[in-house]
Amino acid sequence: MPLVPPYIESLRPYEPGRSIAEVQRTYGLTRVAKLASNENPLGPSPLALEALRRPLALNYYPNGGLDLRERLAYGFDLKVSNVIAASGSDSIMSGIIRAFLCDDDEVLTTDAAFIGFQVLARSRGVAYRTVPYRDWQYDLQALASAITEKTKIIYLANPNNPTGTIFSKTDFDAFYAHVPERVLIILDEAYFEYAKDTPRYPDSMHYRYDNVITLRTFSKIYGLAGLRVGYGFAHEELIKNLLKVKLPFEPSEPAQRAAIAALDDHEFVHRALELNARGLRQINTALKQMGIDAVPSSANFVMLPLESANEASWLTDELLQRGVIIRPLASFGLPNCVRVSTGTDEDNQMFLDAMEVLYCKEGICRR
Ligand SMILES: Cc1ncc(COP(=O)(O)O)c(C=O)c1O
Repeated sequence: MPLVPPYIESLRPYEPGRSIAEVQRTYGLTRVAKLASNENPLGPSPLALEALRRPLALNYYPNGGLDLRERLAYGFDLKVSNVIAASGSDSIMSGIIRAFLCDDDEVLTTDAAFIGFQVLARSRGVAYRTVPYRDWQYDLQALASAITEKTKIIYLANPNNPTGTIFSKTDFDAFYAHVPERVLIILDEAYFEYAKDTPRYPDSMHYRYDNVITLRTFSKIYGLAGLRVGYGFAHEELIKNLLKVKLPFEPSEPAQRAAIAALDDHEFVHRALELNARGLRQINTALKQMGIDAVPSSANFVMLPLESANEASWLTDELLQRGVIIRPLASFGLPNCVRVSTGTDEDNQMFLDAMEVLYCKEGICRR
């Protein structure tokens, strides 16, 4: 028996985007735009920062997220027993995989799903099955038809990372009608806040399905990715079992405190949404003029399907040398595609200026 199981041996670890400091050092640059990890370019929520400045009793263990669970339950009109909080939605996903998957079970999702989920699910060593996108949207019909008696978890992200696309409540309900009760659906809504005002986007908080768990995060709109804090809502039976496997002291006390404060930072959320909407318009319009079509996005990033894997890696490298970090998607399973997060107005312009240099000459663009 080898020390390392084959499904771990063959796993490629999650690669975080490159840091601004590292790119500055490598290429001798003063200004770098990090558009690789769908973070909030405004920084962290000011109310969260203010809360962190108050004295913290860090000598005591935290209470496992209870204060945050109570605040979320109050805010969303649920019972505390329907809410879980942990060190990022990643951590809750990891708990779901530990709590609910047995050796013979299968996981089902789309091709090129969010890489964090891919790595976690594959690390469990169970069968991992996918169906292709249709026009960069989830093909929910094909997913429903792919369910077998072994399927245990279906992972859906809405909006989806990396495509930025969404499905509606009608689409979801038609799909849900085909899902047996013994199958758990993870509804990953990391980008919920960016999409919630799109008319056809559903608010899953109003769903009352016993086998669906909704995951959300403070890493995106609230600008707290570095603190690691996320949450989930589900039937109390699911939450009860998830709490059995959750590491007892997640989230940390600073993370919990900052998250509670951030929930009241409506002005910051509003500013972040405005900046993002402006950024999407700015990027989509300029790219279109260059002959590059981004997939229509309901999140804080756009995906660009390019002509070849060579073009995608060429573009990533050229942009990097010019101080713009984007995300190549080969590791997700889309070697022809790259993903670009919206940044500040200046970041977006820096990206577009570099694109113009790379794709256009004397006003004529080569795509
Ligand atoms: C779809 C999706 N889910 C989850 C996460 C991870 O969120 P967290 O920082 O809460 O672990 C991300 C982060 O990029 C994401 O894109």
